[in-house]
Amino acid sequence: MPHTVALPKNADALQAMLGDQGYICDRALGVVAFLALKLGRPLFLEGEAGVGKTEIAKAIASGLGRKLIRLQCYEGLDAASAVYEWNFAAQMVAVRTAEAAGGMDRDALEGELFSDKYLMKRALLDAMSPQEGGAPVLLIDELDRTDAPFEAFLLEALSDFQVTVPELGTIKAPEPPIVIVTSNRTREVHDALKRRCLYHWVDYPDFDRELAVLNARVPAAAADLSREIVRFVQTLRTEDLFKKPGVAETIDWAKCLLALDVVSLSPDVIADTLGAILKYQDDITRLQGAEATRILDEARNEIAE
Ligand SMILES: Nc1ncnc2c1ncn2[C@@H]1O[C@H](COP(=O)(O)OP(=O)(O)OP(=O)(O)O)[C@@H](O)[C@H]1O
Ligand SMILES: [Mg+2]
Repeated sequence: MPHTVALPKNADALQAMLGDQGYICDRALGVVAFLALKLGRPLFLEGEAGVGKTEIAKAIASGLGRKLIRLQCYEGLDAASAVYEWNFAAQMVAVRTAEAAGGMDRDALEGELFSDKYLMKRALLDAMSPQEGGAPVLLIDELDRTDAPFEAFLLEALSDFQVTVPELGTIKAPEPPIVIVTSNRTREVHDALKRRCLYHWVDYPDFDRELAVLNARVPAAAADLSREIVRFVQTLRTEDLFKKPGVAETIDWAKCLLALDVVSLSPDVIADTLGAILKYQDDITRLQGAEATRILDEARNEIAE
């Protein structure tokens, strides 16, 4: 585990720290992330897919030398499995062994079975437990996939930074974790939870920032090609698409083009590789042929301007 780093002094220092991790954020996100760290408030990030919501949690954790604990949300996620589970199989083995040995002391066995030894910590309990190197970064990813009861439970856990295991009692974080919550906004997250957090909408980056991201993530791409790629994707996002490409798609596309030894975009190259940037057949069909040429021309005109 990397050594712990002191919290950055100001938003600029945080932006620079994230930059060192290859994460390029704009001023607004830098400020809100700094304030979240400084005030010890959860950071709530909403935005389209692939714009860097999950990645910032990773960059903050590695920049600060903290452990990253990820709670990946999904439909049907319940409070118990986000906190802990008992290692049932190991408990059964212990019971059988005790039975075979005979002279079993029921109370002692019960105490043993529900001890740390058989406890499997899940994300929330792990985040509330003491960690080497200081409070961990707790990433609650894609919260919009869970339901209202889980949100209510989370609200409580994040209010006092403690969770309860009935057999063991209440475990309170020695130092509150750094909490980052993300949502793709497939539904609105409840106001009560949002109110606890500092909120930021992560938008698609502008040309310069997306180019900086591409340079950081795919440094092998030639400068001219990277500019063309970013300009094309930026122009594509102004089109009426079912699903606009995120930064993740820009990066993937650049990697595909590099693998094909492409030096410059052409309608043919675009047609061959559209599956890296567009993930819906309707969008791909729309973009084939003349449309791709038109967008490419438009993108080139903007470079020329
Ligand atoms: N600002 C950025 N700086 C550096 N890399 C970025 C940035 N934004 C996005 N990326 C890259 O794009 C990829 C996708 O980002 P990430 O997984 O964080 O998106 P997301 O917003 O969490 O998307 P989803 O909603 O689909 O989970 C990452 O692997 C990362 O490399
Ligand atoms: Mg994500």
